[in-house]
Amino acid sequence: MPLYDADETLGPDSFNVEDHADKITISPLPRKNFPQHTQDPEQIFQILKNELLLDGNSKQNLATFCQTWESQQVEQLMNLAIDKNLIDKDEYPQTAEIERRCVRLLADLWNAPGGAVGCSTIGSSEAAMLGGMAAKWRWRDRQKAAGKPSDKPNMVCGSVQICWKKFARYWDIELREIEMTDDNLCISPDDVLKQVDENTIFVVPTLGVTYHGLYEDVLAISEALDDLQLRTGLDVPIHVDAASGGFLVPFTDPGHEPWDFRLKRVKSINASGHKFGLAPLGVGWVLWREQTDLPDDLVFHVSYLGGDMPTFQINFSRPAGQVIAQYYDFIRLGREGYARIHGGSHSVAEYFGNAISKYEDFQVVHDGNPQRGIPAVVWRIRQGCDPGFTLYDLADRLRMRGWQVPAYPLTGTLSKTGFQRILVKRDFTREMADLLLDDMKAGVDYLKTNPTDKPVVTQKAQSYNHL
Ligand SMILES: Cc1ncc(COP(=O)(O)O)c(C=O)c1O
Repeated sequence: MPLYDADETLGPDSFNVEDHADKITISPLPRKNFPQHTQDPEQIFQILKNELLLDGNSKQNLATFCQTWESQQVEQLMNLAIDKNLIDKDEYPQTAEIERRCVRLLADLWNAPGGAVGCSTIGSSEAAMLGGMAAKWRWRDRQKAAGKPSDKPNMVCGSVQICWKKFARYWDIELREIEMTDDNLCISPDDVLKQVDENTIFVVPTLGVTYHGLYEDVLAISEALDDLQLRTGLDVPIHVDAASGGFLVPFTDPGHEPWDFRLKRVKSINASGHKFGLAPLGVGWVLWREQTDLPDDLVFHVSYLGGDMPTFQINFSRPAGQVIAQYYDFIRLGREGYARIHGGSHSVAEYFGNAISKYEDFQVVHDGNPQRGIPAVVWRIRQGCDPGFTLYDLADRLRMRGWQVPAYPLTGTLSKTGFQRILVKRDFTREMADLLLDDMKAGVDYLKTNPTDKPVVTQKAQSYNHL
């Protein structure tokens, strides 16, 4: 949540309330002082509805990884669940049962050997915190049992999403982040081996790196760690951040090399239901390979049908609708439906990537190929080219037409280079891709014929990039 300043200088509220329509229409809504009187619900609804028109149009928000379209049935299920609290297992046992079924279906999807445990979360960020805490607890127990110090834990990863930086800071973990180079956008097993030691709680490869969408090679990292264990006895577990890839790879590239619980070293996996799991905003998942991978002292018990149910989550109260909608999506779509929908997104992404590659000034970094990464297209200005504008300028031009196509730098040797990305989701049709391509062409033509004195070089283009 952004931290809002309650003392913002807005001036006094002049909202004099009378039960009179015109009065409401011509007065500003309270912005600072908590209102004294009640208002006409329909009028307030209309005013807020109008105000919300100033938000970006989610269909043109190609920055977000999250779903911007839901079916009528999902909307109805969300309405039915509006008063259900997911934590009240005793009161809503059927919702608890549905959550349990989702975990089982995911254990099957991610090839757990049997005995996996897991839970829903509010998104991948909470899932990452839970996966990370379990790893920290396991490592601490191991160190203590061996009579070794447990005050300097570290984790090893590539250029991760901000949730891992939060996890590291909030839980006092040294973040050993391997930054990108021009030749290596993903972490290599050799780089990982240079960073791990006996204080490493886990290695976190990402299946669909937020910056460029490419899949990191979990198998190669796992094999390198197997080899390290053979040579030195050091046993370093893996948690896979499959925020996007966990709901893509099993459907779009079923022959993909193992990345999930088929690898013994993979102890936990997180994924966002509200991204390519296709559920509405507010649901993620985390699973552990076996019960023993989730230390007992992290688990709290709530009452459930006269007995008790183990829970692991940071929030207490949570909406239940997203979990119910997730189960609906699983059974309504099945593997076939997910493959069809995500396959469609990849086709549109590849079509778009192909069109971008025709620009001589641009170089495509990820072209939407389902074997390499998520349905996204990422490009940069070709090395050695100077089109006379930056990708931040282009992002600004596109913003004028409502498109949110963020420009942002990567990390390491690429931390000064601008990249641009679109996420292709199920409601970004080929038709919309053509409209965006037209607007890109118009934007590029405009910037070439009207060179900016001061190209936008930092993130002044004002689009959120989800990093
Ligand atoms: C790889 C990765 N991990 C974690 C997250 C955080 O996910 P959420 O927004 O579900 O908390 C994201 C979000 O984009 C992501 O791309």
